[in-house]
Amino acid sequence: MAASQKLYAALFHVLLLSLFPLKAKSSARTQAEALIQWRDTLSSSPPPLTSWSRSNLHNLCRWTAVSCNPTSRTVSRINLSSLNIAGTLARFNFTPFTDLTGFDIQNNNVSGTIPSAIGSLSKLNHLDLSANLFGGSIPVEISRLTELQYLSLHNNNLSGAIPFQLASLPKVRHLDLGANYLENPDWSKFSMPSLEYLSFSLNELTSEFPAFITNCRNLTFLDLSYNHFTGQIPELLYTNLGKLETLILSNNSFQGPLSANISKLTNLKNLSLQNNLLSGRIPESIDSISGLQIVELFNNSFQGNIPSSIGQLKHLEKLDLRMNALNSTIPPELGLCTNLTYLALAVNKLSGELPLSLSNLSKLTKMGLSQNSLSEIGKLTRLQYLYLFNNNFSGSIPPEIGNLKELTNLDLSGNQLSGPLPPTLWDLTNLNLLNLFFNKINGKIPPEVGNLKMLQTLDLNTNQLHGELPQAISNITSLTAISLFGNNFSGSIPSDLGKYMPSLEGGTSESNQLERPSGSRLI
Ligand SMILES: *[C@@H]1O[C@H](CO)[C@@H](O)[C@H](O)[C@H]1NC(C)=O
Ligand SMILES: *[C@@H]1O[C@H](CO)[C@@H](O)[C@H](O)[C@H]1NC(C)=O
Ligand SMILES: *[C@@H]1O[C@H](CO)[C@@H](O)[C@H](O)[C@H]1NC(C)=O
Ligand SMILES: *[C@@H]1O[C@H](CO)[C@@H](O)[C@H](O)[C@H]1NC(C)=O
Ligand SMILES: *[C@@H]1O[C@H](CO)[C@@H](O)[C@H](O)[C@H]1NC(C)=O
Ligand SMILES: *[C@@H]1O[C@H](CO)[C@@H](O)[C@H](O)[C@H]1NC(C)=O
Ligand SMILES: *[C@@H]1O[C@H](CO)[C@@H](O)[C@H](O)[C@H]1NC(C)=O
Ligand SMILES: *[C@@H]1O[C@H](CO)[C@@H](O)[C@H](O)[C@H]1NC(C)=O
Ligand SMILES: *[C@@H]1O[C@H](CO)[C@@H](O)[C@H](O)[C@H]1NC(C)=O
Ligand SMILES: *[C@@H]1O[C@H](CO)[C@@H](O)[C@H](O)[C@H]1NC(C)=O
Ligand SMILES: *[C@@H]1O[C@H](CO)[C@@H](O)[C@H](O)[C@H]1NC(C)=O
Ligand SMILES: *[C@@H]1O[C@H](CO)[C@@H](O)[C@H](O)[C@H]1NC(C)=O
Repeated sequence: MAASQKLYAALFHVLLLSLFPLKAKSSARTQAEALIQWRDTLSSSPPPLTSWSRSNLHNLCRWTAVSCNPTSRTVSRINLSSLNIAGTLARFNFTPFTDLTGFDIQNNNVSGTIPSAIGSLSKLNHLDLSANLFGGSIPVEISRLTELQYLSLHNNNLSGAIPFQLASLPKVRHLDLGANYLENPDWSKFSMPSLEYLSFSLNELTSEFPAFITNCRNLTFLDLSYNHFTGQIPELLYTNLGKLETLILSNNSFQGPLSANISKLTNLKNLSLQNNLLSGRIPESIDSISGLQIVELFNNSFQGNIPSSIGQLKHLEKLDLRMNALNSTIPPELGLCTNLTYLALAVNKLSGELPLSLSNLSKLTKMGLSQNSLSEIGKLTRLQYLYLFNNNFSGSIPPEIGNLKELTNLDLSGNQLSGPLPPTLWDLTNLNLLNLFFNKINGKIPPEVGNLKMLQTLDLNTNQLHGELPQAISNITSLTAISLFGNNFSGSIPSDLGKYMPSLEGGTSESNQLERPSGSRLI
């Protein structure tokens, strides 16, 4: 090599070395200018963005919400989440951000459409535009973001069909399009096998179960709730999606039986199928899903028995089978689900006794049952809510009720209960609501009613109570509603009734024989 050539090469090398940082500097500068220009279009620009200033251009990598690639010193992530930003992305110049991997503006008030220019962010792997006011349709250009792994457009005002081109995003693991007004695409063009998290919840989807989902074998979370999906739950869901931990199909019009193959979803923890048109029996094989914590099947047409195998579900915390056509007895095995805090079986055709074993459910805080015997109720000492209304319970209210010291809401209305009010009732000093209307309860209301200092609603209408109302009732200052009509009370309404009850809305005691004190505003 000639000396001059060597020199030339060396010079060229030096030139190159000096050019690179220069080039980086200039693109960083272009990025900084682009950010400032956009910030200046915002209708509300929050104080933290004051670091975005022309006098501070050289500090771009320390600007609020900005992170840089340490080698190139250009912007790699923009995270403007929850900064109370209002405006649009219309004037955001995406072109200079060639290295951007993350763009997160969740939980602001950004409106307008999602600009198609966002498709130029070719290295983007995380895009979160959730909880904003974006309208219009999803731009197909999003499908050019082939590095995308996380895409959330949740909770916006997006409408139109979901673009099938999204299916060409080969790496997306998390896709959340929930809480918009999106409509069916041509599902047959979809295929997104890399998905692990998928939510289409709360949209306007009307098709049958999208078949492509049953090929997303890595799914752990699936939420299609609050749409208008129809047809059966495909068998392939159970056979292919064995990694599912959460399955939420509630509030649709899915019909047909729940396959025994559901037992193949061995990793399932939360199952929500309420408010559908499902029928048939609850599969006995449900006990194979040993990690189940939440089972919500209410408001379907399930019939037959409550499988005793449910007793194997040691992690079960919530079991809601209300509003079906279940016609068995309550299996004593339910008492083995000792982690249950919520058990709801009301509005079914259950019969028989309340199993003694339920008294072992010491964590239970909410229970609603129907058509059972009340006698062992006194052991459920942690209960806060007890709703047994509109059943056919007869006999008197068991004195053991007084053991349920945590009760805040007691509703035994619409039964055939008779006999006097048990004195232990007045030990329930946490009660906010006491509904005993539409029964055949007799006897008097004793002065101890005044113990119920937290009571807001007292409804004893349509029973056979008699005698005078105790003065002590006037001292329950929290009462907002009282209803006593349809009894045989006599004497006068306590003169102080209402005096200490700032929020009392009104009360009725028609069809009693009470004398009305002058000036009373309660009748
Ligand atoms: C953005 O910041 C929020 C709040 O600090 C955080 O929860 C979120 O994960 C961040 N987003 C990205 C893409 O790093
Ligand atoms: C959006 O705007 C409304 C009304 O201006 C405001 O109450 C709300 O806090 C804003 N939300 C966010 C996330 O900035
Ligand atoms: C949502 O979009 C509809 C049109 O699709 C529009 O009429 C409505 O005003 C938008 N709502 C908000 C809060 O932007
Ligand atoms: C599913 O997950 C496994 C393990 O993480 C991974 O090796 C595989 O590539 C994933 N499949 C797809 C289609 O992404
Ligand atoms: C359960 O899945 C198997 C295939 O794994 C299938 O042969 C069988 O018919 C399915 N059961 C029902 C009730 O569909
Ligand atoms: C199941 O639901 C419970 C209560 O809503 C929640 O705490 C838990 O994280 C959920 N589990 C999964 C795997 O989603
Ligand atoms: C039960 O489901 C039906 C539709 O199947 C719906 O109309 C009704 O409102 C639901 N009831 C409740 C209490 O959610
Ligand atoms: C969906 O849920 C709402 C309660 O949020 C309920 O009123 C409605 O009836 C449900 N729709 C169906 C079809 O079950
Ligand atoms: C429950 O209902 C099913 C189907 O309607 C019926 O075959 C069965 O005899 C009923 N069982 C009981 C205990 O009433
Ligand atoms: C029962 O619930 C508690 C708290 O929710 C949890 O820590 C514990 O692991 C659960 N036990 C079982 C067997 O699931
Ligand atoms: C309650 O649980 C204990 C311990 O598991 C058991 O020995 C007892 O028989 C149970 N009580 C009832 C009434 O089932
Ligand atoms: C009602 O409360 C007042 C003031 O606390 C008290 O003097 C009075 O004895 C109480 N009346 C009844 C009937 O408990």
